[in-house]
Amino acid sequence: MYRFFFLVVFAVVVVFIDASKSCNLYNGSWVLDESYPLYDSWRCPFMSKEFDCQKNGRPDRSYLEYRWRPNGGCQVSRFDGVDFLEKWRGKKIMFVGDSLSLNQWLSFNCMLHAAVPDSQISKTHPNADLTVITFQDYEVSIILHHSLFLVDVVKEAGYGRVLKLDSIEKGKKVWIGMDMLIFNTWHWWSRTGNTQPWDFVEHKGNITKDMNRTEAFSIALSTWATWVNTHVDFNKTKVFFQGISPTHYRGEKAGSACLSQTRPINDENYTSTHQPLAMTVVKNTIRKISKQVELLDITFLSQLRRDGHPSQYGSFPMDCSHWCLAGVPDTWNQLLYSSLITDLCNQSL
Ligand SMILES: *[C@@H]1O[C@H](CO)[C@@H](O)[C@H](O)[C@H]1NC(C)=O
Ligand SMILES: *[C@@H]1O[C@H](CO)[C@@H](O)[C@H](O)[C@H]1NC(C)=O
Ligand SMILES: *[C@@H]1O[C@H](CO)[C@@H](O)[C@H](O)[C@H]1NC(C)=O
Ligand SMILES: *[C@@H]1O[C@H](CO)[C@@H](O)[C@H](O)[C@H]1NC(C)=O
Ligand SMILES: *[C@@H]1O[C@H](CO)[C@@H](O)[C@H](O)[C@H]1NC(C)=O
Repeated sequence: MYRFFFLVVFAVVVVFIDASKSCNLYNGSWVLDESYPLYDSWRCPFMSKEFDCQKNGRPDRSYLEYRWRPNGGCQVSRFDGVDFLEKWRGKKIMFVGDSLSLNQWLSFNCMLHAAVPDSQISKTHPNADLTVITFQDYEVSIILHHSLFLVDVVKEAGYGRVLKLDSIEKGKKVWIGMDMLIFNTWHWWSRTGNTQPWDFVEHKGNITKDMNRTEAFSIALSTWATWVNTHVDFNKTKVFFQGISPTHYRGEKAGSACLSQTRPINDENYTSTHQPLAMTVVKNTIRKISKQVELLDITFLSQLRRDGHPSQYGSFPMDCSHWCLAGVPDTWNQLLYSSLITDLCNQSL
């Protein structure tokens, strides 16, 4: 009897230690899986030309058939759109950020649509920055709020467009009342010249022409995290940060490092030297300021997918920044779904 009891306790302890050590959903590798992709892009009524690589003539298809396999035996839950819609009935889910948010939001809607292809769906544009797709049979709204920096850009006399690192007035009006928020920002912080959408930057009342972009990003993220911590009711609202989606330009210039890539990088040693500085900033900020924001740590798994970009089969001459759909953002959404339905480590038990 005692011996049995001891064995059970011992076994539970061993399994517990083993699971907490080995189960990291965000570390692993990509494997071919014939059951992928999760939907056909041409059946998705929301599909946008810039992500529809097959329709734009991309000749290869294997990039559609990779499944993310975490190390250590933990599983990514199979996405169950009906289950999601039932559990989130009557709720509002909002993706906030730049075109990488658009990429993930669209993927999410396509995944849900594939689960309920006959469901009544409405799509509206309440204003230039908001798009709302509602699965009416479930009254679930999946909303996109286009916001490049999360913090404000305001026109001011004498200056022009001022990027205000301490101010988050515009966002907070639309974020309140959501049941889930998935934030993202980074890609626009490094823009200079013609594509920089501001003229001055303001911090603590000091308006200057420019400043260190990583530091500006870090300050803005702190502003955001402080707001989230103070104003979001975590009993009602689940909050994620999308993480930094990597690009595959050569030296960040308009090169073509993603052109003609048909396979993921398969090198266990790849990550250590390639962690983007922005990712360190995100991790530090979230860890320091907001304990209740969950990081979708999609950087490493996406870095391996140099084959997942539109390259010349998108809307730009060479796009190594966004992702084809179906494609990599479907996995981000599977991980989002996984972390919603279950404590990650339990899955490997
Ligand atoms: C991923 O796991 C491998 C082996 O299990 C390990 O060597 C590597 O450091 C891990 N990478 C990260 C980013 O955790
Ligand atoms: C204001 O900006 C100037 C120019 O970048 C800088 O030298 C100065 O330290 C800033 N002052 C404060 C209070 O941040
Ligand atoms: C900007 O700041 C970061 C972090 O403080 C630093 O690592 C980086 O070298 C700085 N960049 C420039 C161009 O000064
Ligand atoms: C959230 O729930 C906890 C535990 O049920 C409760 O103590 C707390 O007051 C709630 N917070 C808010 C803001 O409703
Ligand atoms: C990864 O690094 C280890 C230690 O440096 C080395 O033994 C191994 O061969 C490397 N793996 C690959 C695929 O390069």
